[in-house]
Amino acid sequence: MEQLMRNFFLFLSKNRPLTKVAKKYGLRFGAARFVAGETVPLAVKTIKELNQKNLAVTLDYLGEFVDNEAEANEMADYSIKAIEAIGKDKLNAQLSLKMTSMGLDISEKVVMHNMRRILEAARKHNVFVTIDMEDYSRCQKTIDVFKELKKEFDNVGTVIQAYLYRTVADMEDLNSYKPNLRLVKGAYKESPEVAFPDKKDVDENFKKIIKMHLLNGNYTAIATHDDEMIEYTRQLVKEENISKDQFEFQMLYGIRPERQEQLAGEGYTMRVYVPFGNDWYGYFMRRLAERPANVAFVLKGIIKK
Ligand code: FDA
Repeated sequence: MEQLMRNFFLFLSKNRPLTKVAKKYGLRFGAARFVAGETVPLAVKTIKELNQKNLAVTLDYLGEFVDNEAEANEMADYSIKAIEAIGKDKLNAQLSLKMTSMGLDISEKVVMHNMRRILEAARKHNVFVTIDMEDYSRCQKTIDVFKELKKEFDNVGTVIQAYLYRTVADMEDLNSYKPNLRLVKGAYKESPEVAFPDKKDVDENFKKIIKMHLLNGNYTAIATHDDEMIEYTRQLVKEENISKDQFEFQMLYGIRPERQEQLAGEGYTMRVYVPFGNDWYGYFMRRLAERPANVAFVLKGIIKK
């Protein structure tokens, strides 16, 4: 049943007409629990609230199905506005973005042009940028773009998904770049030909890549709400004498906020991924796919109204 629901919401997340409708009508159905608002000032307000609680942030301007150059340029302009807002108020925040929003599916020229201007603005304002990882069909292209950019910019990192069979090989390949990587389990619906179908195997691979990246001496963001993975990391860094400066935990806005504060209180860098913008629908559906309790929360909200 859980798998069925997951597939259903992942299917819905790819629906273009619903994405368009959702954009028009603003944050609905409890999406505000996971999305900070639709504008830069609302996002800034949320960042300030989180910073006050000693939580760092990575801000993401939401955008799905970007398939023409003008839209990709607009997405990049908006991301630059977000960077400038972070810089102006000296907020404890980074930026996350998706390559498809910057023109990955349009052409290499468009995506590289947009990424270079974002990273230049980010460098000027001392902001680090993480390239999110999308579905398998974009994985190689995203890694290629990352490698190209890493030659020119220090302030860029990307994401590696534990559910892919190729992941360990990717990490070995990327190691010479000494990359700052966010490690995640993986959020998309992938075929068993490319990804572990069993959660147990994903968890095992997740632990493996956490260890690998930390022991290689690289900065590591462990992005998970799973206490087992958090505990694994805590034990590992203790045994291996790894400094708290070499890693951080990350969680999504609206998920386990008390746990986020608790970890920050224990002296760990805890970064919250804060999405904002009017294109919230696909992101929201992926969150519902992850956890039946999230669906129950949304249904309760609708019934209350
Ligand atoms: P999982 O969903 O397997 O949950 C394991 C356990 O965690 C649960 O059994 C429960 O104990 C606990 N838990 C989870 N949610 C909880 C809740 N709401 N309340 C209480 N307990 C809860 N994916 C991707 O493909 N590309 C990307 O770029 C990113 N980026 C990204 C950034 C950040 C900051 C995060 C946190 C996640 C991502 N992801 C991602 C998503 C990621 O791949 C994954 O889908 C989700 O994090 C869910 O997996 P978890 O590791 O949280 O554990």
